[in-house]
Amino acid sequence: MLSQILSRMPGHPWYDRIHYFDTIDSTNTYAKKLATEGAAAGTVIIAGRQTAGRGRLGRSFSSPENMGIYLSVILRPNCKPTDIMHLTCATGVAALEAIARPDVGIKWTNDLVMGKRKLGGILTELSVDPATGNVAWVVVGIGINCCQKVTDFPADIADMAGSLSMISGRETDRSRVAAAMMEALYAMSCTLFSGKFAMLRQYRRDCVTVGQDVSILRGDSVLHAHALNVDEEGALVVRYSDGTTEAVNS
Ligand code: BTN
Repeated sequence: MLSQILSRMPGHPWYDRIHYFDTIDSTNTYAKKLATEGAAAGTVIIAGRQTAGRGRLGRSFSSPENMGIYLSVILRPNCKPTDIMHLTCATGVAALEAIARPDVGIKWTNDLVMGKRKLGGILTELSVDPATGNVAWVVVGIGINCCQKVTDFPADIADMAGSLSMISGRETDRSRVAAAMMEALYAMSCTLFSGKFAMLRQYRRDCVTVGQDVSILRGDSVLHAHALNVDEEGALVVRYSDGTTEAVNS
């Protein structure tokens, strides 16, 4: 798999920084360990299978063998954490570019969806240098379901999960998707600040949540609102039934 990926990305700046594992617990967990040990920006971890793939809010991410792309990259933007509130949105836009299917959208903030089915997700994790308050490292993790059939998903998510092969009706070449993903992530990392406004325009266009009624979880309670827009930091602007609006970050 690694040689197939590398053959698709000659001269790529991250070419020599890719670590491939047939099996790993979580590419994000390993990337965080390498980042803590000082690994360079652009260090990429890819796995054929994850035994403990993680999603947001402590959820797991089903990562069966050779069915998906499980990829994490270390970035080291020189900025405050508040300067990269839009990073998950930027990663979502990059992932859509790599997937290159107009029928795939983004469910705010980090789910790649086709209709009601989730094709993948993004998990960004960050560490701050206590001495400066600057970002020490960010790990951007992406999981994409590529080759699964409905019957390949665990029963509890089979109704809600989808794969690239399910929507295209064809086999998916995972090495092509992985190489395209690194190309798009590299471009995203180069334009994270300069391209922010153009990226957000694209995100708003591709975000299927805007214009929908949404449920917002606040501790144990659920608030109902209508999603109006995505703001300059990637927050979801919602309107409650009493007419008040709020920018929600998660
Ligand atoms: C989500 O659905 O909330 C996000 C899922 C993110 C999954 C990817 S797979 C590669 C990387 N390693 C992990 O453990 N998680 C991310």
